[in-house]
Amino acid sequence: MKHTDIKEILNNGEYIGKKVTVCGWVRTARDSKNVAFIELNDGTSLKHLQIVIDKASGMEYDPNALRLGTSLKVTGTAVEARQAAAEINAESIEILGECPLEYPLQKKRHTLEFLRTMPHLRGRTNTFNAVLRVRSVLAESIHRYFQERNYVYVNTPLITGSDCEGAGEMFQVTTIGYSDKYKNSDEYYADDFFGKRAGLSVSGQLEGEMAAMALGKIYTFGPSFRAENSNTPKHLAEFWHVEPEVAFAELPDVIAMAEDMLKHVIRNLLDTCPDEMQFFDDHFEKGIIARLEELISHDFGVVSYTEAIKLLEESGENFVYPVSWGCDLQTEHERYIAEKVFKKAVFVTDYPKEIKSFYMKQNPDGKTVAAVDLLVPGVGEIIGGSEREADYEKLVAAMNERNMNLDLYSDYLDLRKFGSVPHGGFGLGFERLIMYVTGIANIRDVTLYPRTVGSIR
Ligand code: 4AD
Repeated sequence: MKHTDIKEILNNGEYIGKKVTVCGWVRTARDSKNVAFIELNDGTSLKHLQIVIDKASGMEYDPNALRLGTSLKVTGTAVEARQAAAEINAESIEILGECPLEYPLQKKRHTLEFLRTMPHLRGRTNTFNAVLRVRSVLAESIHRYFQERNYVYVNTPLITGSDCEGAGEMFQVTTIGYSDKYKNSDEYYADDFFGKRAGLSVSGQLEGEMAAMALGKIYTFGPSFRAENSNTPKHLAEFWHVEPEVAFAELPDVIAMAEDMLKHVIRNLLDTCPDEMQFFDDHFEKGIIARLEELISHDFGVVSYTEAIKLLEESGENFVYPVSWGCDLQTEHERYIAEKVFKKAVFVTDYPKEIKSFYMKQNPDGKTVAAVDLLVPGVGEIIGGSEREADYEKLVAAMNERNMNLDLYSDYLDLRKFGSVPHGGFGLGFERLIMYVTGIANIRDVTLYPRTVGSIR
Protein backbone atom coordinates (compact mmCIF):
# COMPACT_ATOMS: atom_id res chain seq x y z
CA MET A 1 0.00 0.00 0.00
CA LYS A 2 1.83 3.10 -1.16
CA HIS A 3 1.90 5.69 1.61
CA THR A 4 4.22 8.02 3.50
CA ASP A 5 5.35 7.56 7.10
CA ILE A 6 3.68 10.06 9.41
CA LYS A 7 7.04 10.81 10.99
CA GLU A 8 8.36 12.09 7.65
CA ILE A 9 5.44 14.45 7.18
CA LEU A 10 5.60 15.77 10.73
CA ASN A 11 9.31 16.50 10.54
CA ASN A 12 9.71 17.57 6.98
CA GLY A 13 8.51 20.86 5.49
CA GLU A 14 9.15 19.51 1.99
CA TYR A 15 5.71 17.93 1.89
CA ILE A 16 3.89 21.28 2.13
CA GLY A 17 1.60 21.76 -0.88
CA LYS A 18 2.03 18.15 -2.00
CA LYS A 19 -0.54 15.42 -2.19
CA VAL A 20 0.24 12.54 0.18
CA THR A 21 -1.32 9.32 1.37
CA VAL A 22 -0.95 8.25 4.99
CA CYS A 23 -2.21 5.24 6.93
CA GLY A 24 -2.72 4.82 10.66
CA TRP A 25 -5.05 4.38 13.61
CA VAL A 26 -7.33 7.09 14.96
CA ARG A 27 -5.98 8.26 18.29
CA THR A 28 -8.47 11.08 18.94
CA ALA A 29 -11.08 12.91 16.91
CA ARG A 30 -13.16 16.06 17.24
CA ASP A 31 -16.25 16.84 15.27
CA SER A 32 -18.05 20.15 14.81
CA LYS A 33 -20.51 21.64 12.39
CA ASN A 34 -18.10 22.78 9.71
CA VAL A 35 -14.95 20.86 10.35
CA ALA A 36 -13.71 17.61 11.88
CA PHE A 37 -10.21 16.72 13.10
CA ILE A 38 -8.61 13.30 13.37
CA GLU A 39 -5.32 12.66 15.14
CA LEU A 40 -3.76 9.78 13.23
CA ASN A 41 -0.79 7.70 14.37
CA ASP A 42 0.98 5.00 12.36
CA GLY A 43 3.56 4.13 15.02
CA THR A 44 6.48 5.84 13.28
CA SER A 45 6.43 8.75 15.71
CA LEU A 46 5.20 9.65 19.14
CA LYS A 47 3.39 12.70 17.75
CA HIS A 48 0.15 12.30 15.81
CA LEU A 49 -0.65 13.78 12.41
CA GLN A 50 -3.70 16.02 12.27
CA ILE A 51 -6.17 15.24 9.49
CA VAL A 52 -8.58 18.10 8.75
CA ILE A 53 -11.96 17.40 7.20
CA ASP A 54 -13.49 20.55 5.75
CA LYS A 55 -17.16 19.72 5.57
CA ALA A 56 -17.80 22.46 3.00
CA SER A 57 -15.50 20.63 0.53
CA GLY A 58 -18.23 18.07 -0.09
CA MET A 59 -15.87 15.14 0.43
CA GLU A 60 -17.84 12.03 1.22
CA TYR A 61 -16.70 9.98 4.19
CA ASP A 62 -18.06 7.46 6.63
CA PRO A 63 -18.60 9.13 10.04
CA ASN A 64 -17.25 5.92 11.67
CA ALA A 65 -13.83 7.10 10.46
CA LEU A 66 -13.78 9.29 13.57
CA ARG A 67 -14.02 6.38 16.00
CA LEU A 68 -11.01 5.69 18.21
CA GLY A 69 -8.91 2.75 17.04
CA THR A 70 -10.27 2.71 13.48
CA SER A 71 -7.58 2.18 10.85
CA LEU A 72 -7.63 4.62 7.95
CA LYS A 73 -6.00 5.39 4.65
CA VAL A 74 -6.15 9.13 4.05
CA THR A 75 -5.14 11.08 0.96
CA GLY A 76 -4.89 14.82 1.02
CA THR A 77 -2.67 17.87 0.72
CA ALA A 78 -0.03 18.68 3.33
CA VAL A 79 -0.45 22.22 4.64
CA GLU A 80 1.38 24.22 7.27
CA ALA A 81 0.41 23.56 10.87
CA ARG A 82 1.07 25.17 14.23
CA GLN A 83 2.28 22.13 16.22
CA ALA A 84 4.23 20.30 13.50
CA ALA A 85 5.73 20.79 10.03
CA ALA A 86 2.41 19.87 8.43
CA GLU A 87 -1.15 18.63 8.73
CA ILE A 88 -3.34 17.09 6.04
CA ASN A 89 -6.40 18.58 4.38
CA ALA A 90 -8.25 15.37 3.60
CA GLU A 91 -9.48 14.67 0.07
CA SER A 92 -10.40 11.03 0.59
CA ILE A 93 -10.71 8.83 3.65
CA GLU A 94 -10.96 5.07 3.41
CA ILE A 95 -11.70 2.92 6.44
CA LEU A 96 -9.31 -0.06 6.41
CA GLY A 97 -10.68 -1.64 9.57
CA GLU A 98 -13.63 -0.49 11.65
CA CYS A 99 -13.35 -0.28 15.40
CA PRO A 100 -16.37 -0.73 17.66
CA LEU A 101 -17.14 1.61 20.55
CA GLU A 102 -16.04 -1.00 23.10
CA TYR A 103 -12.39 -0.53 21.99
CA PRO A 104 -10.56 -0.77 25.32
CA LEU A 105 -8.12 2.08 24.73
CA GLN A 106 -10.14 5.19 25.33
CA LYS A 107 -8.92 8.77 25.30
CA LYS A 108 -8.18 8.92 29.03
CA ARG A 109 -4.80 7.85 30.41
CA HIS A 110 -4.91 4.18 31.41
CA THR A 111 -2.83 2.73 34.22
CA LEU A 112 0.12 0.50 33.35
CA GLU A 113 -1.55 -2.31 35.31
CA PHE A 114 -4.65 -2.05 33.13
CA LEU A 115 -2.54 -1.98 29.96
CA ARG A 116 -0.69 -5.13 31.09
CA THR A 117 -3.94 -7.02 30.56
CA MET A 118 -3.77 -6.22 26.83
CA PRO A 119 -0.20 -6.62 25.56
CA HIS A 120 -1.54 -6.91 22.01
CA LEU A 121 -3.03 -3.41 22.11
CA ARG A 122 -0.85 -1.45 24.49
CA GLY A 123 1.68 -0.73 21.74
CA ARG A 124 -0.88 1.78 20.46
CA THR A 125 -0.54 3.98 23.54
CA ASN A 126 1.94 6.84 23.76
CA THR A 127 3.80 5.09 26.58
CA PHE A 128 4.46 1.90 24.66
CA ASN A 129 5.06 3.74 21.42
CA ALA A 130 7.87 5.56 23.24
CA VAL A 131 9.15 2.52 25.19
CA LEU A 132 9.37 0.29 22.14
CA ARG A 133 11.15 2.94 20.09
CA VAL A 134 13.64 3.62 22.90
CA ARG A 135 14.23 -0.13 23.07
CA SER A 136 14.94 -0.28 19.35
CA VAL A 137 17.25 2.75 19.39
CA LEU A 138 19.18 1.39 22.38
CA ALA A 139 19.57 -2.03 20.75
CA GLU A 140 20.93 -0.50 17.58
CA SER A 141 23.39 1.71 19.42
CA ILE A 142 24.65 -1.16 21.59
CA HIS A 143 25.40 -3.14 18.43
CA ARG A 144 27.04 -0.10 16.86
CA TYR A 145 29.14 0.60 19.96
CA PHE A 146 30.67 -2.87 19.87
CA GLN A 147 30.89 -3.17 16.08
CA GLU A 148 32.82 0.09 15.82
CA ARG A 149 35.35 -1.22 18.36
CA ASN A 150 36.23 -4.55 16.69
CA TYR A 151 33.97 -6.74 18.79
CA VAL A 152 32.48 -9.73 16.96
CA TYR A 153 28.77 -10.38 17.50
CA VAL A 154 28.31 -14.06 18.32
CA ASN A 155 25.14 -16.03 18.85
CA THR A 156 25.52 -18.42 21.75
CA PRO A 157 23.19 -21.43 22.11
CA LEU A 158 19.88 -20.99 23.86
CA ILE A 159 19.55 -24.68 24.66
CA THR A 160 22.39 -25.83 26.86
CA GLY A 161 23.59 -28.72 28.95
CA SER A 162 25.41 -26.57 31.53
CA ASP A 163 24.11 -24.05 34.02
CA CYS A 164 26.30 -20.94 33.69
CA GLU A 165 25.39 -19.24 36.94
CA GLY A 166 25.08 -22.57 38.78
CA ALA A 167 22.11 -21.24 40.69
CA GLY A 168 19.71 -23.97 39.61
CA GLU A 169 17.42 -21.54 37.85
CA MET A 170 17.28 -23.28 34.49
CA PHE A 171 14.08 -24.05 32.66
CA GLN A 172 14.19 -27.64 31.55
CA VAL A 173 13.93 -28.53 27.85
CA THR A 174 12.31 -31.89 27.24
CA THR A 175 10.14 -33.66 24.72
CA ILE A 176 8.91 -36.19 27.25
CA GLY A 177 5.82 -35.21 29.12
CA TYR A 178 4.61 -36.79 32.34
CA SER A 179 5.61 -40.45 32.46
CA ASP A 180 5.97 -43.17 35.08
CA LYS A 181 7.86 -45.36 32.60
CA TYR A 182 11.32 -44.61 34.03
CA LYS A 183 12.89 -46.00 37.21
CA ASN A 184 15.06 -42.97 37.84
CA SER A 185 16.04 -39.59 36.39
CA ASP A 186 19.13 -40.97 34.60
CA GLU A 187 16.95 -43.34 32.61
CA TYR A 188 14.50 -40.54 31.89
CA TYR A 189 17.13 -38.11 30.60
CA ALA A 190 18.87 -40.83 28.56
CA ASP A 191 15.60 -41.34 26.70
CA ASP A 192 15.01 -37.61 26.17
CA PHE A 193 15.71 -35.63 22.98
CA PHE A 194 19.38 -34.86 23.69
CA GLY A 195 20.11 -38.05 25.61
CA LYS A 196 20.85 -35.98 28.68
CA ARG A 197 19.38 -33.22 30.75
CA ALA A 198 19.07 -29.92 28.87
CA GLY A 199 17.78 -26.47 29.70
CA LEU A 200 17.36 -22.92 28.44
CA SER A 201 20.49 -20.87 28.90
CA VAL A 202 20.63 -18.39 31.78
CA SER A 203 23.61 -16.63 30.16
CA GLY A 204 25.73 -16.93 27.01
CA GLN A 205 28.88 -16.24 28.98
CA LEU A 206 30.51 -19.68 28.98
CA GLU A 207 30.26 -20.04 25.21
CA GLY A 208 31.07 -16.32 24.89
CA GLU A 209 34.36 -16.99 26.66
CA MET A 210 35.13 -19.72 24.14
CA ALA A 211 34.54 -17.29 21.28
CA ALA A 212 36.62 -14.58 22.99
CA MET A 213 39.51 -17.03 23.30
CA ALA A 214 39.52 -17.12 19.50
CA LEU A 215 38.28 -13.71 18.40
CA GLY A 216 39.62 -11.54 21.21
CA LYS A 217 36.58 -9.32 21.70
CA ILE A 218 33.04 -10.59 21.32
CA TYR A 219 29.56 -9.70 22.46
CA THR A 220 26.25 -11.48 22.53
CA PHE A 221 22.83 -9.86 22.49
CA GLY A 222 20.03 -12.32 22.94
CA PRO A 223 17.52 -13.75 25.34
CA SER A 224 18.39 -15.45 28.63
CA PHE A 225 15.92 -17.48 30.65
CA ARG A 226 15.67 -17.77 34.40
CA ALA A 227 13.20 -19.83 36.36
CA GLU A 228 13.65 -17.58 39.39
CA ASN A 229 10.68 -17.60 41.66
CA SER A 230 10.98 -13.85 42.22
CA ASN A 231 7.81 -11.96 41.59
CA THR A 232 9.49 -8.54 41.72
CA PRO A 233 9.30 -5.42 39.54
CA LYS A 234 12.75 -6.19 38.10
CA HIS A 235 12.74 -9.91 37.28
CA LEU A 236 11.58 -11.54 34.08
CA ALA A 237 11.70 -15.24 33.26
CA GLU A 238 12.83 -14.25 29.74
CA PHE A 239 15.02 -11.17 29.42
CA TRP A 240 17.43 -9.79 26.85
CA HIS A 241 21.05 -9.95 27.78
CA VAL A 242 24.04 -8.06 26.39
CA GLU A 243 27.26 -9.93 27.21
CA PRO A 244 30.62 -8.66 26.01
CA GLU A 245 33.65 -10.85 26.70
CA VAL A 246 37.20 -9.65 26.23
CA ALA A 247 40.54 -11.46 26.12
CA PHE A 248 43.55 -9.83 27.76
CA ALA A 249 41.26 -7.84 30.09
CA GLU A 250 41.38 -7.51 33.86
CA LEU A 251 38.70 -6.22 36.21
CA PRO A 252 39.50 -2.49 35.74
CA ASP A 253 39.25 -2.98 31.96
CA VAL A 254 35.83 -4.59 32.36
CA ILE A 255 34.67 -1.67 34.52
CA ALA A 256 35.99 0.91 32.04
CA MET A 257 34.26 -0.86 29.14
CA ALA A 258 30.92 -0.97 30.96
CA GLU A 259 31.05 2.72 31.85
CA ASP A 260 32.11 3.80 28.37
CA MET A 261 29.46 1.68 26.66
CA LEU A 262 26.65 2.96 28.87
CA LYS A 263 27.68 6.57 28.42
CA HIS A 264 27.76 6.15 24.64
CA VAL A 265 24.37 4.53 24.33
CA ILE A 266 22.68 6.98 26.70
CA ARG A 267 24.21 9.97 24.84
CA ASN A 268 22.91 8.51 21.59
CA LEU A 269 19.47 7.94 23.10
CA LEU A 270 19.18 11.55 24.30
CA ASP A 271 20.22 12.80 20.86
CA THR A 272 18.05 10.40 18.85
CA CYS A 273 14.84 10.34 20.89
CA PRO A 274 14.20 13.86 22.24
CA ASP A 275 10.40 13.55 21.97
CA GLU A 276 10.28 10.18 23.70
CA MET A 277 12.65 11.30 26.46
CA GLN A 278 10.60 14.46 27.03
CA PHE A 279 7.53 12.26 27.29
CA PHE A 280 9.18 10.16 30.02
CA ASP A 281 10.36 13.31 31.77
CA ASP A 282 6.81 14.72 31.72
CA HIS A 283 4.94 11.55 32.66
CA PHE A 284 7.23 9.09 34.47
CA GLU A 285 10.23 10.69 36.14
CA LYS A 286 10.51 14.46 36.41
CA GLY A 287 14.03 15.59 35.57
CA ILE A 288 15.14 12.30 34.04
CA ILE A 289 16.77 14.00 31.04
CA ALA A 290 18.86 16.22 33.33
CA ARG A 291 19.79 13.21 35.47
CA LEU A 292 20.96 11.21 32.47
CA GLU A 293 22.95 14.22 31.19
CA GLU A 294 24.53 14.45 34.63
CA LEU A 295 25.27 10.74 34.68
CA ILE A 296 27.16 10.75 31.41
CA SER A 297 29.18 13.84 32.22
CA HIS A 298 30.75 12.42 35.43
CA ASP A 299 32.76 9.36 36.39
CA PHE A 300 30.72 6.55 37.89
CA GLY A 301 31.51 5.71 41.53
CA VAL A 302 33.58 2.64 42.49
CA VAL A 303 33.44 1.01 45.91
CA SER A 304 34.50 -2.42 47.15
CA TYR A 305 31.88 -4.74 48.60
CA THR A 306 33.68 -4.58 51.96
CA GLU A 307 33.49 -0.76 52.02
CA ALA A 308 29.86 -0.90 50.84
CA ILE A 309 28.96 -3.16 53.77
CA LYS A 310 30.59 -0.67 56.14
CA LEU A 311 28.57 2.17 54.62
CA LEU A 312 25.37 0.19 55.02
CA GLU A 313 26.17 -0.81 58.60
CA GLU A 314 26.89 2.80 59.52
CA SER A 315 23.86 4.17 57.66
CA GLY A 316 21.45 3.96 60.61
CA GLU A 317 18.81 2.76 58.13
CA ASN A 318 16.26 0.15 59.13
CA PHE A 319 16.73 -2.37 56.33
CA VAL A 320 14.32 -5.28 55.97
CA TYR A 321 17.30 -7.57 55.28
CA PRO A 322 20.01 -7.13 57.94
CA VAL A 323 23.52 -6.36 56.70
CA SER A 324 26.78 -8.06 57.60
CA TRP A 325 29.93 -9.01 55.69
CA GLY A 326 29.13 -12.06 53.58
CA CYS A 327 25.47 -11.21 52.91
CA ASP A 328 24.15 -10.77 49.38
CA LEU A 329 23.16 -7.18 48.64
CA GLN A 330 19.40 -6.82 48.33
CA THR A 331 17.71 -4.22 46.14
CA GLU A 332 17.12 -1.98 49.20
CA HIS A 333 20.88 -2.03 49.92
CA GLU A 334 21.83 -1.46 46.30
CA ARG A 335 19.48 1.48 46.03
CA TYR A 336 20.70 3.00 49.29
CA ILE A 337 24.28 2.93 48.01
CA ALA A 338 23.41 4.34 44.58
CA GLU A 339 20.74 6.83 45.68
CA LYS A 340 21.77 8.00 49.13
CA VAL A 341 25.54 7.54 49.33
CA PHE A 342 26.84 8.11 45.80
CA LYS A 343 23.76 9.72 44.21
CA LYS A 344 24.88 8.27 40.87
CA ALA A 345 25.81 5.01 39.18
CA VAL A 346 28.32 3.03 41.22
CA PHE A 347 30.38 -0.10 40.62
CA VAL A 348 30.64 -2.45 43.60
CA THR A 349 33.65 -4.78 43.33
CA ASP A 350 35.29 -7.77 45.00
CA TYR A 351 32.41 -9.70 46.53
CA PRO A 352 32.77 -12.67 48.90
CA LYS A 353 33.41 -15.78 46.83
CA GLU A 354 30.58 -17.69 48.52
CA ILE A 355 27.86 -15.46 47.07
CA LYS A 356 29.26 -15.32 43.54
CA SER A 357 29.66 -17.77 40.66
CA PHE A 358 32.35 -20.42 40.33
CA TYR A 359 34.07 -18.84 37.31
CA MET A 360 35.17 -15.58 38.91
CA LYS A 361 38.86 -14.84 39.45
CA GLN A 362 39.89 -15.57 43.03
CA ASN A 363 41.55 -12.61 44.73
CA PRO A 364 44.81 -13.05 46.68
CA ASP A 365 42.95 -12.49 50.00
CA GLY A 366 41.38 -15.95 49.58
CA LYS A 367 37.98 -14.53 50.57
CA THR A 368 36.79 -12.42 47.65
CA VAL A 369 36.52 -12.68 43.87
CA ALA A 370 37.10 -10.08 41.12
CA ALA A 371 33.40 -9.48 40.56
CA VAL A 372 31.66 -6.23 39.72
CA ASP A 373 28.02 -5.13 39.78
CA LEU A 374 26.82 -1.77 38.53
CA LEU A 375 24.12 -0.23 40.71
CA VAL A 376 22.01 2.67 39.51
CA PRO A 377 19.53 4.91 41.32
CA GLY A 378 15.93 3.79 40.97
CA VAL A 379 16.63 0.26 39.76
CA GLY A 380 19.61 -1.23 41.62
CA GLU A 381 21.77 -3.72 39.73
CA ILE A 382 21.76 -3.45 35.95
CA ILE A 383 25.14 -5.06 35.19
CA GLY A 384 26.91 -8.06 36.67
CA GLY A 385 30.38 -9.03 35.53
CA SER A 386 33.83 -10.18 36.53
CA GLU A 387 37.33 -11.05 35.58
CA ARG A 388 37.28 -14.82 35.01
CA GLU A 389 39.45 -17.37 36.75
CA ALA A 390 42.07 -18.18 34.12
CA ASP A 391 44.05 -20.66 36.22
CA TYR A 392 43.05 -24.29 35.63
CA GLU A 393 43.84 -25.58 39.12
CA LYS A 394 42.07 -22.73 40.91
CA LEU A 395 39.00 -23.08 38.69
CA VAL A 396 38.77 -26.83 39.28
CA ALA A 397 39.09 -26.23 43.02
CA ALA A 398 36.24 -23.69 42.99
CA MET A 399 34.05 -26.08 41.01
CA ASN A 400 34.82 -28.96 43.35
CA GLU A 401 33.92 -26.79 46.34
CA ARG A 402 30.51 -26.41 44.73
CA ASN A 403 30.20 -30.12 43.92
CA MET A 404 29.90 -29.37 40.21
CA ASN A 405 30.06 -32.11 37.59
CA LEU A 406 33.34 -31.26 35.83
CA ASP A 407 32.49 -33.48 32.84
CA LEU A 408 29.77 -31.02 31.82
CA TYR A 409 32.34 -28.22 31.69
CA SER A 410 35.23 -29.96 29.89
CA ASP A 411 35.26 -27.44 26.99
CA TYR A 412 35.31 -24.57 29.46
CA LEU A 413 38.17 -26.13 31.39
CA ASP A 414 40.12 -26.78 28.17
CA LEU A 415 40.31 -23.01 27.65
CA ARG A 416 42.47 -22.88 30.79
CA LYS A 417 44.76 -25.59 29.41
CA PHE A 418 45.34 -24.29 25.89
CA GLY A 419 46.80 -20.78 25.95
CA SER A 420 44.82 -19.38 28.87
CA VAL A 421 44.79 -15.57 29.16
CA PRO A 422 43.36 -13.07 31.64
CA HIS A 423 39.88 -12.18 30.42
CA GLY A 424 36.58 -10.84 31.61
CA GLY A 425 33.23 -9.44 30.69
CA PHE A 426 29.82 -8.52 31.96
CA GLY A 427 26.11 -9.02 31.45
CA LEU A 428 23.78 -6.07 31.04
CA GLY A 429 20.08 -6.72 31.59
CA PHE A 430 18.58 -4.90 28.62
CA GLU A 431 15.16 -4.39 30.21
CA ARG A 432 16.78 -3.03 33.40
CA LEU A 433 18.62 -0.47 31.27
CA ILE A 434 15.32 0.53 29.66
CA MET A 435 13.70 0.90 33.10
CA TYR A 436 16.57 3.12 34.15
CA VAL A 437 16.50 5.44 31.14
CA THR A 438 12.71 5.77 30.98
CA GLY A 439 11.89 5.93 34.69
CA ILE A 440 9.38 3.10 34.26
CA ALA A 441 9.32 1.25 37.55
CA ASN A 442 8.12 -2.20 36.50
CA ILE A 443 10.06 -4.44 34.11
CA ARG A 444 6.76 -5.83 32.80
CA ASP A 445 6.18 -2.47 31.12
CA VAL A 446 9.36 -2.29 29.05
CA THR A 447 8.92 -5.44 26.98
CA LEU A 448 6.27 -6.51 24.49
CA TYR A 449 5.17 -9.73 26.19
CA PRO A 450 6.54 -10.09 29.72
CA ARG A 451 7.08 -13.62 31.02
CA THR A 452 7.00 -13.83 34.80
CA VAL A 453 6.36 -16.53 37.35
CA GLY A 454 2.75 -17.69 37.08
CA SER A 455 2.05 -15.55 34.02
CA ILE A 456 2.36 -16.25 30.31
CA ARG A 457 0.22 -15.15 27.40
O1 4AD B 1 24.50 -10.89 37.30
P1 4AD B 1 24.08 -11.90 36.29
O2 4AD B 1 23.40 -13.12 36.78
O3 4AD B 1 25.41 -12.26 35.50
C1 4AD B 1 25.50 -13.17 34.51
O4 4AD B 1 24.60 -13.78 34.01
C2 4AD B 1 26.89 -13.26 33.95
N1 4AD B 1 27.04 -14.54 33.26
C3 4AD B 1 27.13 -12.07 33.05
C4 4AD B 1 28.50 -12.03 32.44
O5 4AD B 1 29.45 -11.79 33.17
N2 4AD B 1 28.60 -12.26 31.16
O6 4AD B 1 23.14 -11.21 35.22
C5 4AD B 1 23.58 -10.08 34.51
C6 4AD B 1 22.49 -9.05 34.41
C7 4AD B 1 22.01 -8.53 35.76
O7 4AD B 1 22.83 -7.49 36.22
C8 4AD B 1 20.62 -8.02 35.41
O8 4AD B 1 20.69 -6.73 34.83
C9 4AD B 1 20.18 -8.99 34.34
O9 4AD B 1 21.33 -9.63 33.82
N3 4AD B 1 19.28 -10.00 34.90
C10 4AD B 1 17.94 -9.97 34.77
N4 4AD B 1 17.12 -9.10 34.15
C11 4AD B 1 15.80 -9.35 34.20
N5 4AD B 1 15.25 -10.42 34.80
C12 4AD B 1 16.03 -11.34 35.43
N6 4AD B 1 15.48 -12.41 35.99
C13 4AD B 1 17.44 -11.13 35.43
N7 4AD B 1 18.49 -11.80 35.94
C14 4AD B 1 19.59 -11.10 35.61
